[in-house]
Amino acid sequence: MADISTTWMGLDLRSPVIAASSTLTGSVDNVVEAARCGAGAVVLKSLFEEEILMESAENLAGNEQRFWYGQAEDYIREYSRGDALNRYLALIQECSDAVSVPVIASINCVTSGEWVSFAREMEGAGAAGLEVNIFVPPSDTSRTGAENEQIYFDVLERVTRSVHIPVAAKISSYFSSMSETAGRLSRSGIGGMVLFNRFFSPDIDIETFALKAGPVFSTAGDLYQSLRWIAMLSGRTGCDLAASTGVHDGESLIKQLLAGAKAVEVASVLYRKGFEEIRIMLGELEDYMDRHGFARLDEFIGRMAMGAVQNPAGYERVQFMKHFSNIS
Ligand SMILES: Cc1cc2nc3c(=O)[nH]c(=O)nc-3n(C[C@H](O)[C@H](O)[C@H](O)COP(=O)(O)O)c2cc1C
Repeated sequence: MADISTTWMGLDLRSPVIAASSTLTGSVDNVVEAARCGAGAVVLKSLFEEEILMESAENLAGNEQRFWYGQAEDYIREYSRGDALNRYLALIQECSDAVSVPVIASINCVTSGEWVSFAREMEGAGAAGLEVNIFVPPSDTSRTGAENEQIYFDVLERVTRSVHIPVAAKISSYFSSMSETAGRLSRSGIGGMVLFNRFFSPDIDIETFALKAGPVFSTAGDLYQSLRWIAMLSGRTGCDLAASTGVHDGESLIKQLLAGAKAVEVASVLYRKGFEEIRIMLGELEDYMDRHGFARLDEFIGRMAMGAVQNPAGYERVQFMKHFSNIS
């Protein structure tokens, strides 16, 4: 029987499929279900910095006497922060008690503010690791790429300094020099990098002229950007890589492992098909390993990475020249 255990940023995982951070992983019952279906780890839904700020604002708006004195505002703001954090710490603790697989806490940062110290409390609540989901939208016309990128380094430096558990950075592909930035990020003290996060996309209702939400879930066709970058960065960074976005079945899981991922993080397929899909994906992985005579994952993780294939330029090719696109 093939051994499908792996390691991810120093954590031992019994399988390479991680239930990604989402609203699904915001309840103890679902975390237990993910573990029952074979997940190697679970990343809890994120504690969003913006959510904490909004909650503070709502509490302030609902308080008619908010002009009493400035300290009252400070108190409400602190209370809201504490309330959101305490709920989150309770979730970490209950999930960690309920399952034997690593429970990874997740924080979403938009600044490197004081609240980064929450990371220490998450560690204290029993989190086995911490995933920092950072995205600085490159939409401010007055800010340079270097200024935006500095925020990532500030956040990661502060978080990794404040905890002893391994920290992963979950990033987007919005970097002008992806390889160089990813290389520097990977050496900033983190244990892993997750490529890539999936974002809310705004859409337009052409009849009502209103903004609406674009498709929330990924499709299987969304795999390829992450696959390319896992393959291009594998073996060239100072930390482990995990793949996220578009992994919908056993075949795409195997592709990401071949490209160099130590694990994959899945969300959309769990919303669409349920946690049982993890078991099906792992069964497909075991069948594949048996067919190819692989006893362990490390016998083929990275076998198709850019540095390992005979035609590495294939990963850098981006234009649909007729010769390469199989279109007549
Ligand atoms: C409904 C939904 C909620 C999500 N919430 C979070 C979140 O709280 N924190 C986070 O880091 N990622 C979040 N994600 C991103 C997922 O963790 C995952 O990285 C992304 O969806 C790509 O994987 P997929 O193609 O398997 O969906 C969310 C995704 C979805 C679809």
